[in-house]
Amino acid sequence: MRVFVAGHRGMVGGAILSQLQLRRATGEAIEIITHSRSELNLTDQSAVRDFMAAERPDTVILAAAKVGGIHANNTYPADFIYENLMIECNVIHQAFAAGVRRLLQLGSSCIYPKAVPQPMSASAADGHAGADQRALCDCQDCRYQTVRELQPPAGR
Ligand SMILES: NC(=O)c1ccc[n+]([C@@H]2O[C@H](COP(=O)([O-])OP(=O)(O)OC[C@H]3O[C@@H](n4cnc5c(N)ncnc54)[C@H](OP(=O)(O)O)[C@@H]3O)[C@@H](O)[C@H]2O)c1
Repeated sequence: MRVFVAGHRGMVGGAILSQLQLRRATGEAIEIITHSRSELNLTDQSAVRDFMAAERPDTVILAAAKVGGIHANNTYPADFIYENLMIECNVIHQAFAAGVRRLLQLGSSCIYPKAVPQPMSASAADGHAGADQRALCDCQDCRYQTVRELQPPAGR
């Protein structure tokens, strides 16, 4: 099995890489493909297309992202959404085009309500708008209440 770990030098990607290396060390036939951002910038559509076509991994683990704290996200929202959408669109579509069978995409735990029971389940966000629809959310538990000013002023 050929596995491309995107973002292997990051917190999540590094942990996944370690697990895959352990499994390989115990005899599993796993071939791990990694590239740093300077070797393969995932916001570059043609570079990602050429990489996927040449390497043809069986599995892609998408742990690459522009990541920051709440302050950085609130200060530079356009940079975060641009880079992360570019990475996701390029990797997901070019993986599909290259015939990749399995893709794991990581979402931030911040998409879930603050007070959700731990450990949280995948359905814990039901009934809450979450980060990607936060301007629409009326839920008092949603930690993203404070970004309502992103909506256009009344009357426009
Ligand atoms: N669900 C959860 O509980 C949970 C928890 C934590 C994180 N996450 C998610 O997991 C993902 C990774 O988070 P993290 O904390 O591991 O982030 P991180 O430590 O900052 O690592 C991000 C990685 O992405 C790579 N990267 C960024 N931009 C890139 C680009 N344009 N091209 C290629 N590589 C690029 C970086 O590569 P370089 O090192 O080469 O710069 C780095 O290895 C995020 O989507 C985050 O929301 C989810």
